[in-house]
Amino acid sequence: MEIGTFNDLSPDEKSLLELARDVRDNAYAPYSDFYVGAALLTLDDEVVTGCNIELATIQGAHAEVSALSAMATKGLKGPKVIAINARAKGFDTSEVSAPCGSCRQAIFEFSQAYNVDTKIIVSTTHFEKVGISTISALLPHAFGPRDVLNTFDS
Ligand code: THU
Ligand code: ZN
Repeated sequence: MEIGTFNDLSPDEKSLLELARDVRDNAYAPYSDFYVGAALLTLDDEVVTGCNIELATIQGAHAEVSALSAMATKGLKGPKVIAINARAKGFDTSEVSAPCGSCRQAIFEFSQAYNVDTKIIVSTTHFEKVGISTISALLPHAFGPRDVLNTFDS
């Protein structure tokens, strides 16, 4: 992934990333003190957001999955673009935060289900570094719905 700056983004991409930054601080992350926000543009051109939540029992939800869950809850179609922003309690990030492997798998699920190669925008806390990639680049040779559903159509 090439890493550039905020100004390399289109106006719509900038707005999406700013929204991810804004919801980031709603994260409930008392155990890791690492706050993540995700903003997702759907194929319907609707925007939904998500943040990470942590539980005393260890399980929790990552921001990206929370956003995908919001998309599904609203009956919206697949993820065209997802923007991600993060910060720690004690420091701001100096390298971009990219989705973890588990979130890449979750994004790929909906990407393949809705036949869209989801664009992924990653950033440092204050946008000094911004990168754009795609789920196909971040999760090559992925296993997904097509491998499981022999009736899969799209
Ligand atoms: N986190 C996310 O929300 N997304 C990722 O893909 C990476 C990690 C969250 C999980 C946990 O609440 C905190 O960041 C520290 O790992
Ligand atoms: Zn994750």
